[in-house]
Amino acid sequence: MKKLDLNMPKILIADSMDSIAENLLKEGNIDVDVNIGLTPDQLIKIIKEYDGLIVRSATKVTKEIIEAGLNLKVIGRAGAGVDNIDLVAASNNKIIVMNTPGGNTNATAEHTLALLFSLIRNIPYANYGTHKGLWEKKKFKGNELKGKTLGIIGFGNVGRRFAEMCFSLGLNVIIYSKYFNSIKNEFLNYESVNLDFLVKKSDIISFHCKANDNGNPIITMQNITNMKKNCLIINTARGNLIDENDLKKALQQNLIKGAALDVFIKEPATENQLFGLNNIILTPHIAASTSEAQIIVAEMIGKQFCNYFNKNEVSNAVNL
Ligand code: MLT
Repeated sequence: MKKLDLNMPKILIADSMDSIAENLLKEGNIDVDVNIGLTPDQLIKIIKEYDGLIVRSATKVTKEIIEAGLNLKVIGRAGAGVDNIDLVAASNNKIIVMNTPGGNTNATAEHTLALLFSLIRNIPYANYGTHKGLWEKKKFKGNELKGKTLGIIGFGNVGRRFAEMCFSLGLNVIIYSKYFNSIKNEFLNYESVNLDFLVKKSDIISFHCKANDNGNPIITMQNITNMKKNCLIINTARGNLIDENDLKKALQQNLIKGAALDVFIKEPATENQLFGLNNIILTPHIAASTSEAQIIVAEMIGKQFCNYFNKNEVSNAVNL
């Protein structure tokens, strides 16, 4: 039977992630429970037993859970976005929230590129027809990326990697981001623009920013009516960056050519008004889901927790 050292910190891993996180914590003399799929009430009941909590995006770490975590010192997010964690409640309760920035950047940028190629060359539809024996060679004339204008909204790790990939494919890259504007002299290949300009000039618009604090979308029908008719919209960032009602109308009325989404206003998206439209490609929030990225983020969070509990070192805190 496992002998428990009562001074050993105790961590709960509440979402599925690579086992390297659990192994690193154990090697660091930290007691770990892996308990996936808990309901909010179950989590509220047991969270007081733990000094630390590690999640991905499935667990919503609410104010109630944080306040019930009487011994909680740190919450770790194996990933980048922390919008599933109530940061204000964590700060008010002196709990550190850490993420793993950069760990899944390449995976997310590559998935965005995969969606872009799929859209512009009609890959999912051509695949479907070919499996049915339809040989629709005339139906699926695509377009090329080279020479097109890509508008990127947001210039964090993923926006930057995606810009780099697309520039090397011959796209003109324009960027709307306050942060980018402050460092644009380091990136002379890209142009810093305002949102209106980006909306009017882009053949492809891709989101790589955080959601607005108030949850309001950045793109609504007002912007969509200014877009080119052949515009493609891609969102691998957060579902609420674009108004889904307006996107549906835009696709139904062919105001834009197509869209590809990996993220939704309500996740898991087991039902959604966009399902079944013939000019949209949908994936279930898998942009960061590569074996490589999941090992990196699990390893990062495992090491960060060991450093915190064993050396009192804080890294990648988002709420200090
Ligand atoms: C993230 O914020 O890192 C991504 O949305 C990926 C995820 O953890 O699902």
